[in-house]
Amino acid sequence: MHTNCFIGGAFVPASSGRTFTVRNPANDAAVAEVADGGAADARAAVAAAAAAFPAWKSTAAIERAKPLRRLTELMHRDAERLADLCSQECGKPLAEARTEVAYGASFLEWYAEEGKRVYGETIPASDPAKRLLVLRRPCGAAAAITPWNFPIAMVTRKMGPALAAGCTQVVKPAEQTPLSALAIAALAAEAGLPAGVLNVVPGMDAPAIAACFFDNLHVRHVSFTGSTEVGRILLRQSADNVVRVSLELGGHAPFIVFDDADLDAAVAGAMASKFRNAGQTCVCANRFLVQRGVHDAFVERLTAAVGALKVGDGRAAGTQVGPMIDDAGVAKVEAHVADAVAHGAQVRTGGTRAQVPGGSSRFFAPTVLSGVTPSMRCFREETFGPVAPVCAFETESDALRMANDTPYGLAGYLYTRDGARIMRMAEELQYGIVGVNDPLPATAQAPFGGVKHSGLGREGGHQGIEEYLDLRYVSWRVG
Ligand code: SIN
Repeated sequence: MHTNCFIGGAFVPASSGRTFTVRNPANDAAVAEVADGGAADARAAVAAAAAAFPAWKSTAAIERAKPLRRLTELMHRDAERLADLCSQECGKPLAEARTEVAYGASFLEWYAEEGKRVYGETIPASDPAKRLLVLRRPCGAAAAITPWNFPIAMVTRKMGPALAAGCTQVVKPAEQTPLSALAIAALAAEAGLPAGVLNVVPGMDAPAIAACFFDNLHVRHVSFTGSTEVGRILLRQSADNVVRVSLELGGHAPFIVFDDADLDAAVAGAMASKFRNAGQTCVCANRFLVQRGVHDAFVERLTAAVGALKVGDGRAAGTQVGPMIDDAGVAKVEAHVADAVAHGAQVRTGGTRAQVPGGSSRFFAPTVLSGVTPSMRCFREETFGPVAPVCAFETESDALRMANDTPYGLAGYLYTRDGARIMRMAEELQYGIVGVNDPLPATAQAPFGGVKHSGLGREGGHQGIEEYLDLRYVSWRVG
């Protein structure tokens, strides 16, 4: 297991000599002592990335693709080890961690190919003596600040497009889950990625590390996945050196079920969307809007399915729902449920912390609440936990109004068989991602990102690589 900073192609201790303990949220067991990188280490990593940039950007895209593709293969080769590490540090069930390894690898594979298609343009000039060209050039060193809920995939989703575009990168992984990022760095070195192209600085003092990404002219792009509050701080910090930022921030996804929906599919979709990673994903359904005609049947079926979920240590056989990442996470879930109940919601199943033998106090029983109203906290704020609040609606326009009545706009879902309604809703829902009869829309080849307080920029798809490219207009007098 690698536990030191990865800077300039070598694993090195933090310059302060300090370490911090990574613990399994399921049982508080120490997983590893990890180098506690700080500002000095972040500066060294930025310097390494800046030094590696000229050679990496000048490497042909077809050559840059080779270590990325090889890294994909190595991730598949070591999938079981990576999944186990991921499960230990973030608590998710092993089956989900295995899926995450494959999902994470898919970004590297896809961008290894996409990097070969960074085409320019020629523009017909008004002056026959001129030739007008548009080049797309890698913007410089990039930085990525990644979250704990997908310790593998959120690293590769930022790393794939950056490196394929010809940028170098410094990754600051979440302090709860640095081990997966360090494991990826070791595999990247084995895959032949040149020294300095990828650097990883784990550390407890995220603000000090992030500040080093904005205080110089080398880092030209910072990508962040995390809360809207932190996203706003980074956006402000980006102003001084006018650094481009991509922000994938909080979500508050509506999951809308119409009377004409395939109810089996809607319940299966609700389970997949809501309870993946114990509800700790930015795109997971946060509130269920169900049309009156199917409301009771939906609640009944959802309650039965949720009540049957197996809660436990992510590494234990059969676990479907693991712990919350930390005490604050489980306290927030508890507060949302208490608020809903105090305002008249009914607990159909769950509603309290769950006891897991030998486990921590961070498990929350998968919960269904009915009788939820728009004034309740769970209907207005992101819960980030295994709670499904259900609210009835009458008409399509009611559903649309309720769904859009939020400053967030990452993902929204609808279940219906009416084609015209699908198009109307897809056009009018104020969300960056709309899943139509599809609870899991994210994929390497499509743009992922939000509107309003859910962020700026896109990851994935051909749009994702644009974030790392500068346009250079060339006006060439030829005669
Ligand atoms: C996220 O929670 O932000 C990522 C979810 C995904 O990629 O499916």
